[in-house]
Amino acid sequence: MHYLDLADFTNEEVLNMIELSRMLKRADKLGACPHLLEDRSLGMIFMESSTRTRISFEVAMTKLGGHALYLKPGEIHIGKSETVKDTALVLSRLVDAIEIRTTEDEDIAELAKHATVPVINGMGSYIHPTQALCDLMTMLENMPEGKDLSDVTLAFIGDATEYENCGTALSHILPRLGGNFIYASPEGYIADEEFYAPARKACELGGGTFTIVNDPEEAVKNADFIYSSVMWYEGYDADMEGRMKVFLPKYQLNEELAAKAPAHAKYMHYLPAQRGYEMTDGIMDSEMSLLWDQAENRLYSIMAILVKLLKGTKHEASDALKAEQKAKIEAWMVENL
Ligand code: CP
Repeated sequence: MHYLDLADFTNEEVLNMIELSRMLKRADKLGACPHLLEDRSLGMIFMESSTRTRISFEVAMTKLGGHALYLKPGEIHIGKSETVKDTALVLSRLVDAIEIRTTEDEDIAELAKHATVPVINGMGSYIHPTQALCDLMTMLENMPEGKDLSDVTLAFIGDATEYENCGTALSHILPRLGGNFIYASPEGYIADEEFYAPARKACELGGGTFTIVNDPEEAVKNADFIYSSVMWYEGYDADMEGRMKVFLPKYQLNEELAAKAPAHAKYMHYLPAQRGYEMTDGIMDSEMSLLWDQAENRLYSIMAILVKLLKGTKHEASDALKAEQKAKIEAWMVENL
């Protein structure tokens, strides 16, 4: 079983992963995190930079009693002197799961095709599925009285094209859980209808809604949560100036826009954020900001993903078998080493 898109899992599995994330968070806060992944190893390939995802995977494995290896680009052979397929076959013999972040979505698919251990999409160009689980968990923790994921409204301010991998991931799952996802996006930053087929399908399956409007005020007027995202990627976008002109100031989540939302609406961003561009300092640091909860929940939701994928994938030896094997090897060592 791989974790490539959250929508690959049933609603029941998604809700169970969220519940497990919350249980692990509670246990950890009590200093009683169970070592559910003792002796397990995770290989982490990050072809792109990461703060939250990388740290969360590494700390998650440590807290669960396992071990994570950071496989640095340039220090392993993937994509240069070794194909993705061969890397998948080798890593499958050495670690229990593989996490990969890359802008090359075909490499994630190729790794998953050939690996015989679970592969986790740590963010590709198209989709950011580990962030989506964390965001659902954070919304559930901060739900307005009487609401649930089945009737919540999330307004997403920004680019509604394939550029927005976090919005894409959430739009594939929230309407399937019954919730309402609404993009506020400028003309020219809305994809062809075909791109939204998975979101439309999610609405059909779960009864939620998926809407795109141009006007951010319209999008936030019934929002329980308002999400903002990066306006451009430093070092990647050739047309940073052009994007800035389109998105600012209308598509900035600022105090003026927030005032058009219900008083209970809370603010989200997957981070890193460009302070003063897609969000003002006042919004990021406000008491309605969930940004730091989201960052913290990356850890617990990733712990739940790892447990879900690795549970039961390894034969658990009895204490008697462990003692027998230890005695046999130690006896041999006395004679031969
Ligand atoms: N939200 C997120 O994926 O953060 P990083 O890029 O720091 O991992």
